[in-house]
Amino acid sequence: MTAPTLVSCALPYANGPVHLGHLVEHVQTDIYVRALRSTGADVVFVCADDTHGAPIELNALKQGLSPEAFVATWFDEHTAVFRDFHVSHDHYGSTNSPENQHYANLIYERAKAAGSIGKKDVEQPYDAKAGRWLSDRFIRGTCPNCGAKDQYGDACEVCNAAYTPRELKDARSAISGEPLEWKKSSHAFFLLSKHGEFLTQTIRDPAFMNPGPAAQLGQFFEKGLADWDITRDGPYFGFPIPGETNQFFYVWLDAPIGYIAATEQWAKKTGRASSALDFWAESSDACIVHSIGKDIVYFHCLFWPAVLKVAQLKRPARVNIHGHLTVNGEKMSKSRGTFINARAYLDRLDPNYLRFYFASLLGNGPEDLDLSLKEFRERTNAELVNNLGNLANRTLSLLVKEFSGRLAAPSPALGRPLVEGALAKVPAIRAAFLDFDPRTAVKLVLELGYAANQFLTAHEPWKKLKVPESREHAHQALSEAAEVVYLLTALLEPIVPQLAERLAGQLARPGLTFRALEQATYPVLDRGPALGVPAPLIARLEAEQVDALVVTAPVVPKAPERASAEAPKPPPAAAAELEFSDFTKVSLKAGRVLACERVPKADKLLKLTVDLGEAAPRTIVSGIAEAYAPEAVTGRAVVVVANLKPRALKGIESRGMILTAGRGGKDLVLLDPGDVPPGAEVK
Ligand code: MSP
Ligand code: ZN
Repeated sequence: MTAPTLVSCALPYANGPVHLGHLVEHVQTDIYVRALRSTGADVVFVCADDTHGAPIELNALKQGLSPEAFVATWFDEHTAVFRDFHVSHDHYGSTNSPENQHYANLIYERAKAAGSIGKKDVEQPYDAKAGRWLSDRFIRGTCPNCGAKDQYGDACEVCNAAYTPRELKDARSAISGEPLEWKKSSHAFFLLSKHGEFLTQTIRDPAFMNPGPAAQLGQFFEKGLADWDITRDGPYFGFPIPGETNQFFYVWLDAPIGYIAATEQWAKKTGRASSALDFWAESSDACIVHSIGKDIVYFHCLFWPAVLKVAQLKRPARVNIHGHLTVNGEKMSKSRGTFINARAYLDRLDPNYLRFYFASLLGNGPEDLDLSLKEFRERTNAELVNNLGNLANRTLSLLVKEFSGRLAAPSPALGRPLVEGALAKVPAIRAAFLDFDPRTAVKLVLELGYAANQFLTAHEPWKKLKVPESREHAHQALSEAAEVVYLLTALLEPIVPQLAERLAGQLARPGLTFRALEQATYPVLDRGPALGVPAPLIARLEAEQVDALVVTAPVVPKAPERASAEAPKPPPAAAAELEFSDFTKVSLKAGRVLACERVPKADKLLKLTVDLGEAAPRTIVSGIAEAYAPEAVTGRAVVVVANLKPRALKGIESRGMILTAGRGGKDLVLLDPGDVPPGAEVK
């Protein structure tokens, strides 16, 4: 048995659904893993959700959920999608796990002991009113690049500029709305600068990573490798740093450690290893392979190897880097409807189409790949449906229909060149799969399919079987073609395992593997047993089906030019979604009504004098006169929007608004803040 291989995909953030971009990585890596398994190798495929950090905490807050509950919903979504796309992770974990905390602490302690952790005072944004430190996502201000208002502290959603909260104009806390205060905090740094020589050597090795992205990492060395701040001041959704108060590991410290934690969980679950260290100990003979997108090379090829080295753990032997998926030649975009979620795809189309199409595009370099809907349909129909699917279906159907599923004895003069030609391609196909290069594998498999189709065209069994003298020849030709169909059970398995299994079922034989094919010679197919029940491998893709993948936002119906009795009413507009930071701009306070009277000539309005705990009470005009008599309101506790700009109502300046519930008119009730003093915040 060869040394085991541990394979991982990057850990998707538990912050939204799986989309087709994520699937590029999981499909490419699954193909690699399945091909490895098919060779008989011992391989473990792990992944997990990446759960920590401020963006997740903020989104949980927006939904009124705890971060734990929020990430749990995404865990279910992610694992179900990967299962339905036939991605064969051996374990799918979470970085918010005791195993991950254990290894994060262990690695930190080892790095400290090895002298690779330093301390430095850094000025951090602080919200004195809320009494908390502010991570970038809890800061809002004006983009220094394009002037867009209300942008996060780290990047502009309008122009995509990245900056620091220091550069953000008019930066404020998203929690209290107060301007930022800058306070010193002592942070732990990982001293990356100590590992320059080691990292230069590491990334120079073309077996470790593609030379293109390696060259791009050169920029970090030119400036001198910067030490890496691994501390975040609380509150922060992450692991507390041992020995520190209210400080947490930055999400990118514990995220890759999630690979180790997932291995540990897999070991516990299956009992197939005593712990993750069977793979990750420096002395282990395991081979670790990461698969990532080109946007996270810095973390995987610089920090991670250095962190593993100081912690005396095994470094990855290879980091495969893929490019990004575009749709119809452009970056996936929500507004264009091309940001396609994996579940939305599954609701419309068979996953086998996409697995095959991605395989046909993906090499082992970092180039981007495009889901052009037209090309997707045309290539699927030409390659998967016509070439491979029809080869299998016409061969097996005729054998079953005309020869009751019996195969002819081998006829080497007829079939040997065809089958040996196919077998000759197997090592190159296998090698391409094992080099993260499914595109080359698909090309070779298609060549082999074309050859078998040409063979059938040349022998025309569908004609020959109608003539008694040539029926035997037809039977033989079909049986030789069935050899190639049989090979497809191994060659297609990494790409479209479900279709390979279907083929094996129709052949009524267990599917082949690369292991079995190592020794294979003509004839490969045991001609004894009868065939199973043939059926088309997969249906053609129609244009409407493919076009339905791009769903643009529903167009809001326009009101007709002139209102007429027949004109349908536009549906009531749903209230627009607010940014959380917009909501926090609203100041709600408890008030006490000191006095109340009617407003002359306005039978819906009452004039209230309200104590909000301020130096002087406020005058507020409220449209509650049909529901409440002035006497009924005096002395009551009310909820007030306290920071509305003053407005004049019937000549009275009103400063604030009283909150009520109900349909309006007589049907209104005042909201009661409960037993709190005037001025108390309502949140
Ligand atoms: N959580 C980090 C990874 C931590 S690994 C220790 C992260 N998550 S992610 O959800 O943003 O991305 C996960 C993977 O999906 C990354 O490898 C990323 O490159 C890949 N992709 C995300 N969008 C993609 C495309 N549009 N196309 C191809 N891959 C893309 O980064
Ligand atoms: Zn901007």
